[in-house]
Amino acid sequence: MKITKALFMTSNADYKKCPAPTCPEYAFIGRSNVGKSSLINTLCNNSSLAKTSATPGKTQLINHFNINDSWYLVDLPGYGYARTSKSIRGEFARIITSYIENRENLTCLFVLVDSRHAPQKIDREFMAYLATNGIPFVIVMTKIDKLSKKALAENVQVYKDIMLEEWEELPPMFFTSSLHKSGTEEILDFIEETNNIIKNEK
Ligand code: GTP
Ligand code: MG
Repeated sequence: MKITKALFMTSNADYKKCPAPTCPEYAFIGRSNVGKSSLINTLCNNSSLAKTSATPGKTQLINHFNINDSWYLVDLPGYGYARTSKSIRGEFARIITSYIENRENLTCLFVLVDSRHAPQKIDREFMAYLATNGIPFVIVMTKIDKLSKKALAENVQVYKDIMLEEWEELPPMFFTSSLHKSGTEEILDFIEETNNIIKNEK
């Protein structure tokens, strides 16, 4: 699939004010600074669509983008940014969890993790929370340009081995670099296939 149209729609703190849930929706989530907004821009081939920053905590609201007039892409605030105050962290968590648990057209969450790290406690807890709530998700490893091919392959193996201590099977995994624009086709193909399944079910 090619993205031919990507339009910013709204920013909301309250899922109830998000655009009408009329089409499939895919949301990007993960730790602050992992590269969510950058990946959205890379997928859409528009470097100024979602706001990015070297300082963690840039995205603070639920941001909706209309893609090809047929599905929504959502940029969410990051979790686990230790330098924000506890009350702000609590507020972020409330925005995220009420959105995830109540957004009826949420089709799949893309959980972004930094390809340089072994599974982090906060990500594992978050994925366990998704499983408990029956929310479909996939894992996206970001910033693969920061690793050699060999180091990436080793990290991926370690990541899977550790995850498989907790999980019977793993969700689909994608490997991306917004710097090199890699891994985007696989993500867009996955979304296209999922959209087709939904269409055929109707
Ligand atoms: P919050 O909105 O704060 O939660 O962060 P985010 O997850 O949206 O991260 P964002 O896209 O703003 O990127 C954070 C930093 O990582 C920026 O300095 C980006 O330039 C950098 N970055 C993002 N993706 C990549 C990548 O694939 N490779 C490299 N080398 N840097 C990246
Ligand atoms: Mg962001």
